[in-house]
Amino acid sequence: MADQDAFAVRRAEWTADGALLAEIRRAVFVIEQQVPEAEEWDGMDVASGHVIAISSGGVALGTGRLLPDGRIGRMAVLKPWRGRGVGSALLRALIAMAREQGHAQTRLHAQTHALDFYRKHGYAPLGEEFIEAGIPHYEMRLTLTR
Ligand SMILES: CC(C)(COP(=O)(O)OP(=O)(O)OC[C@H]1O[C@@H](n2cnc3c(N)ncnc32)[C@H](O)[C@@H]1OP(=O)(O)O)[C@@H](O)C(=O)NCCC(=O)NCCS
Repeated sequence: MADQDAFAVRRAEWTADGALLAEIRRAVFVIEQQVPEAEEWDGMDVASGHVIAISSGGVALGTGRLLPDGRIGRMAVLKPWRGRGVGSALLRALIAMAREQGHAQTRLHAQTHALDFYRKHGYAPLGEEFIEAGIPHYEMRLTLTR
């Protein structure tokens, strides 16, 4: 991987890193995908575990969260950084967090365009497509083996 593509993923807390995480999610969900602010900021961030990807140049470029009930969500990578493995690294870190917390499975609401991304990590779709925040989704589940 070229240096310009280098990044690292670490765990984050909303209280300490919330401003950085919110900046990424605002760019991806609120501005790019037109998700209403009221749906994006749902009050669950303080109680959730978060991960953040930071470039070797110090730019915060991706994030995701794990809700207390084991659901993963708010997976977001800034557009210029997509397709370089950042989302996969974030998802692996969140799955590891879910496993550590003792969850037997993780579920998520996958935007339909991203089904194959989650399939690559072992998730399988459940049920019918539905609309959330104006965007088509499927529920997906990954069983965690120990
Ligand atoms: C979905 C998202 C988090 C993936 O992050 P990423 O850094 O682009 O993903 P990666 O580079 O780790 O992996 C991409 C892999 O998934 C596959 N893929 C399938 N559908 C994809 C999609 N819609 N977006 C990205 N990758 C997709 C790619 O082909 C690629 O496969 P490869 O590893 O064999 O080349 C990112 O595209 C994003 O932030 N999208 C906008 C916000 C969004 O839709 N979030 C998901 C909400 S459910």
